[in-house]
Amino acid sequence: MELLIAPSILSADFANLQSDIEMVNRSNADWFHIDIMDGVFVPNISFGFPVLKSIGQLARKPLDVHLMIIEPDRYLERFRDYGADILSVHYEACTHLHRTVGKIKELGMKAGVVLNPHTPVHLLEDIIRDVDLVLLMAVNPGYGGQKFIENTYEKISALKELITGKSSKALIEIDGGVTLENAPKLVMAGADVLVAGHTVFSSGNPEQTISLLKSIKLTGDVNP
Ligand code: DX5
Ligand code: ZN
Repeated sequence: MELLIAPSILSADFANLQSDIEMVNRSNADWFHIDIMDGVFVPNISFGFPVLKSIGQLARKPLDVHLMIIEPDRYLERFRDYGADILSVHYEACTHLHRTVGKIKELGMKAGVVLNPHTPVHLLEDIIRDVDLVLLMAVNPGYGGQKFIENTYEKISALKELITGKSSKALIEIDGGVTLENAPKLVMAGADVLVAGHTVFSSGNPEQTISLLKSIKLTGDVNP
């Protein structure tokens, strides 16, 4: 499968959001990664529905929405209405995860489950066939530009094994601390989708950085 790239809008210039969204539209990126934080599940607040709606109106690629909020069930329908194509909820925030995943799919979105760095992948063995995507956090969620946690490589391998063993079609997405240096190794370990915030938006040429990420082949090389 081809590698998918999802630039994280959290690191975009919020005073010039339109131009950053248009840059992603023009680029080789596949999805927009949108981080929603409530200041309770994570120690930071990002943005809410009005901003998401504006992004949705300008974006010409699927919106990959990552909910870092408690009680996500209260808002699933609204996220669909505001343009989410893929909706991911945290394992740690859902008491009835199977029900939540079912509801997301019923609403016509792809369903993802997110694991914090300390949450082992084996906890997904009874839900892995029901999800379209597993998002592995490679940093503690809440902020962009943090340092990548090395244990993530082992988690990718364990998740890949679980997915294959259970004949699941779930994609493996990696979020947090992804760089041009570690991206080839993440792909080699089995990542299907890479989120990148700081790496893309703090680079001199974000569009070219997206192309460099997109060009990573299974050989582990970055091919400009
Ligand atoms: C962190 C967010 C990430 C963040 C990644 O809580 O979920 O999506 O934007 O940013 P970088 O790529 O800068 O680590
Ligand atoms: Zn995220």
